[in-house]
This record gives sequence, structure tokens and C-alpha cells, in this order.
Amino acid sequence: MPPTPATLQPAPPLEPLLLRACRLEPVERPPIWLMRQAGRYLPEYRAVRDKVAFMDLCKTPRLAAEVMIATVHRLGVDAAIIFSDLLPLLEPMGLDLEFAQGEGPVIHNPVRAAADVNRIRELHDIDQVGFVMDVVRATRAGLDASIPVIGFAGAPFTLAGYCIEGGTSKAWLHTKSLMYGHESAWHDLMGKIARAVSRYLVAQIDAGAQVVQVFDSWVGCLSPDDYRRYVLPHSRLAIAEAAKRVPTIHFATGNPALLPLLREAGGSVIGIDWRIDLDVAWAMVGHDRAVQGNLDPVILLSDRDTIRRQAREILAKAGGRPGHIFNLGHGILPHTPVENVLELIETVKHG
Ligand code: CP3
Repeated sequence: MPPTPATLQPAPPLEPLLLRACRLEPVERPPIWLMRQAGRYLPEYRAVRDKVAFMDLCKTPRLAAEVMIATVHRLGVDAAIIFSDLLPLLEPMGLDLEFAQGEGPVIHNPVRAAADVNRIRELHDIDQVGFVMDVVRATRAGLDASIPVIGFAGAPFTLAGYCIEGGTSKAWLHTKSLMYGHESAWHDLMGKIARAVSRYLVAQIDAGAQVVQVFDSWVGCLSPDDYRRYVLPHSRLAIAEAAKRVPTIHFATGNPALLPLLREAGGSVIGIDWRIDLDVAWAMVGHDRAVQGNLDPVILLSDRDTIRRQAREILAKAGGRPGHIFNLGHGILPHTPVENVLELIETVKHG
């Protein structure tokens, strides 16, 4: 066969949209994926959960990977996040974790007194959560190269909050009591968690994660000054090693005044919740970083016209600038109709 003339050779395939957006490179359209895209709002997910308890699902890599792969195909999103949770990392550190039916996570032996911090173990052996790396490998192996796999971990503050409260909390009173009242024990605990998160993210990258996201879901309960003093050095340490290897997404909710400090702690992409307009947030973060967000998840419970209008407003605020990843401002809520999620994705992909 004669060689194909150079002019007819196919162009090299472009890198996935998400990876280009993370690096602020131009894209044909913003990539979209959704936090909690595989969750209870999806009938297919509920069918799996009817047969398997949540933690067993997380610890069965073939099944966990299948759940996310099926979700990516069902929704047509531009990225997969591994199916797992923030909290299994805490088990080998000595916390007794349970996902009680209908209650969310419970830790039966929370850290309450300063002395309790001594019983929290340093996570030296990442193989203790090796099942998560198996989920990364199985998810990567099961998807087309155009769909990047995102690994993730909780940020030190959010994980410390669960360790101390023993579950989700509104005001994080025990957490703040330890933080303000026993500063050295607080920094000990945060240091142990930050080193564990750092090793965990690097292990996920070694297993094939192409981006990692750090969730500081509850840190918005702090003021900027307190974030700087009690949290920032630990979040910076948690992210730094991963950031040498792949793009990182640093996400928090609840307090837009923290945005410049999140940037300082690290993240090629800063996650934005819905409490601030995207253009204002991006200006605060700086246009030399990418941003991800920021539709209020509650909007997905309204009608199609509202969803389309709100999605277009966010796209307009991003203004076609490279470096916008479309997402919600927080995870999809359990009662969200699937067709509304599809409507959103269609709007972002095709206008
Ligand atoms: O689809 C995905 O986004 C991937 C998987 C994923 C889950 N949890 C699965 C899950 C991810 C990325 C998480 C992260 C997570 N876990 C966060 C950060 C994101 C956020 O919402 O801020 C937090 C705070 C947790 C802790 C957690 N896990 C809580 C508070 C709960 C109970 C409340 C709830 O939303 O169900 C969970 C359980 C959980 N994690 C479920 C899923 C699909 C539901 C469990 C079930 O099937 O009953």
C-alpha cells in the first residue's frame, strides 16, 4: 500500500476536555461532570444498593467501577470520579466507621479529648486501603481514553470534623472546641490526616487517576483568619505531592471569602459553590487558575426552562474563557429527577 500523503493523515487525537480545561488550554466547550453523579437519584444505583451495603460496594472494586462506568455512559459526562467515599481512609487510622441505613456515616469512637489524638495512627501502609487503588485501575480500564478518571480524598479539616463529631454536624462544635481549646493536639491530628491524604492521592495517581479532587465540604464554617491559622498549612501539605504529578481540584463550600486562601493552599482548579457568582469568584481566585462549578444542586429539582436558563447564565459568566469546568456547587441531591440531570448536560454540551 502506498504511504498515506501527510495531508491526509488524521490529526493526533486531542487530550480529553477536562485535562485541557484544568491546564487553562482552549476547549471547544466546557467539560461537564457532576459531584455525586453516581448516587441515589439514579434508579440503576438504587438497584445495586438493594443488593449490596454501601461499604461493601466501596470495597468490591469490580462493582464500584461498574457503577461509575455505567453512570458515565448513562449521563454522557466528560469525566468519571472513582466510586468511593471520603471516610474509608479513616478506618486504618483507628476509627470505627459505619454507614448506618438512612443515617449517613457514623464513627463509633470519635476523637473528643486532646489525649484521644494519640490513638489515631499514622497511615504508613497505603495498601490498607488498596481496594481504592483497585477501583481506580478497574475504572480506568473500563472507560474510553477520552474520559479521564478523577481520584479524590477529603481535605484535612473535613476529615478531622468527621473524626471529632463522629458524623455530620451543623455547627461543628466539638471540632471547633478542640481546634480553639487544644491547638497543639489539633495540629497533631491535622498533620496525621494531611500526611495520610497526601500518600493516598499519590497512590491513586500511581494507579491511574489523571486528576485528583480534594473535598473540603465543611470548612466554610470557618473565618478566613482561622482557616489560615488552623487549616491552610495542612491542606497545602495534603495537596502538594499530588500537584507535582497531575492537575488538582480544590473544592470547598459555604464561605466564598475563603476562595483566595484555597488558592494559596493549592489546586490547579478551584471548586466554587453557588453562594457566589462564577465571574466574581473567578476574579477572586485569579484568572491564572481554572474554576469548577457552580450550579445550585437544588435547581435540578425545578423545571426544564429554569435549569436551561440557570446553566446558560453560568456559561455566560465564564464567558468562554479557557479553564471553566461545569459542575454543581455541591453534590446531586437524592430526589433529583434523572431527566433534569440529562437536560443540564445537554444544555452545557450543545447550548
Ligand atoms: O458519584 C460520586 O460523586 C462518587 C462517589 C462519592 C461518594 N461520596 C459516594 C457516596 C464521592 C466523591 C463522595 C464524597 C463524599 N462523601 C463527600 C464529599 C462530597 C460532599 O458531598 O461534600 C462527603 C462529605 C462524604 C461523606 C458522606 N458519604 C456522607 C455525609 C454520606 C451520607 C449522606 C449522603 O449523601 O448519602 C455519604 C454516603 C455516600 N457516599 C453515598 C454515596 C453514593 C450514599 C450512600 C448510599 O448509597 O446510601
